[in-house]
Amino acid sequence: MTTKLYIKTYGCQMNEYDSDKMADVLRACGDMEQTDKPEEADIILFNTCSIREKAEEKVFSDLGRARALKQHNPNLLIGVGGCVASQEGETIIKRAPYVDVVFGPQTLHRLPQLIAARRASGESQVDISFPEIEKFDHVPTAQTTHGSAFVSIMEGCSKYCTFCVVPYTRGDEVSRPFDDVIREVESLTAQGVSEITLLGQNVNAYQGTMGDGDTVDFAFLLQAVAALPGVQRLRYTTSHPREMTQRLIDLYATTPKLASHLHLPVQSGSDRILAAMKRGYTALEYKSVVRKLRAVRPDISITSDFIIGFPGETEADFAATMKLVEDVGFDASFSFIFSPRPGTPAAEMADDTPYETKLERLHRLQTRIHGMEQQVSAAMSGSVQRVLVENISRKNAQELAGRTENNRVVNFAGSPGMLGRYVDVRILPGTLHTLRGELVIQP
Ligand code: SAM
Ligand code: F3S
Repeated sequence: MTTKLYIKTYGCQMNEYDSDKMADVLRACGDMEQTDKPEEADIILFNTCSIREKAEEKVFSDLGRARALKQHNPNLLIGVGGCVASQEGETIIKRAPYVDVVFGPQTLHRLPQLIAARRASGESQVDISFPEIEKFDHVPTAQTTHGSAFVSIMEGCSKYCTFCVVPYTRGDEVSRPFDDVIREVESLTAQGVSEITLLGQNVNAYQGTMGDGDTVDFAFLLQAVAALPGVQRLRYTTSHPREMTQRLIDLYATTPKLASHLHLPVQSGSDRILAAMKRGYTALEYKSVVRKLRAVRPDISITSDFIIGFPGETEADFAATMKLVEDVGFDASFSFIFSPRPGTPAAEMADDTPYETKLERLHRLQTRIHGMEQQVSAAMSGSVQRVLVENISRKNAQELAGRTENNRVVNFAGSPGMLGRYVDVRILPGTLHTLRGELVIQP
């Protein structure tokens, strides 16, 4: 009988990627199909996020709902993976004894064994260890039907920014061997994938070993992936400003396949706050990286992450962030109010800024960046953009959704036969983040 799997994913692209891998490992073990209806499922997995408190709380309320389903279907298996699982471990079983398996981001490939052990013993199973790179060796090669795919090149993070849980939940940086990455990209392009996004918490910290034992850096890897004939467009995320080497920047001059978009989290524009965050760069150094990038790729669009209301952030610190925003000019951002995470140094720092003040600063920042986003949209109006057609539009089944080089989604009328292909689209006037366009018919 076919097993039905429901996965709920919280948080970042790493988690999206891991959820796909969970489905892949379970599919490799037998007849399995995914469902988007939890009430139909035989297995429900929550792939959790602990980056901010809100995301973490959400998991426990969703678990309560899964418990109700289990009361009707005692064979339902409930699993909790991801960063909350990694941080809480056994505590999850104590708080929610109906949970059957708890696994971390580095042990998701052991899911079949954990489920089998749960069924054989009747006991809940917990495995949140960090078995180094083992995960990469045990996940089946991805199957994909879209023109675009993510390829994980490294796991974890060793930067230990004072506000962040990632080094604790995902472990230190571990890079995937060079040949493995190349092999996975080749297998994807053989399936028709032409756009690759290299994925990791800090991709530019990549230090991959080659067959002969030598180590190569991220710029080398990027060049090698770009040289593969099936790859037409190349992206990567996330990168750290501290490791934007000149070699990496120079690739934007010599490698047209590198998309003209870079997500480069800055967090703050105040040097005092950047130091307290332990980011390892100043506002000037960040701006210098952007200036060098624009010198070689003038149209590159930069997006970023901001934390507002870090402990001790004054109005002057916030003004420095707004100044950096003016100086750089961002095309979209993710911005959050600081959330103290247990076990991180920043959670212990004195924080006397009222929440309302933080909210008001967040609003000011978001309004300004939203305005910049609209300016970029307006400037794109009338231009012809090469887009990779990724999906049928979510809002209108007669339309397609494609992605421009600068990472904007464009909706336009077209036929499903265009899925996975590059087409030229003229951008129509409008100021929304999701652009509208019309197909340019080649003569
Ligand atoms: N590796 C990336 C980098 O270089 O910054 C980001 C990793 S983190 C998963 C994604 C974003 O979440 C961060 O850039 C930061 O803006 C935000 N974030 C992390 N910890 C946070 C906290 N304690 N409170 C609020 N936002 C946080
Ligand atoms: Fe977190 Fe800083 Fe690493 S934000 S993921 S510790 S670079």
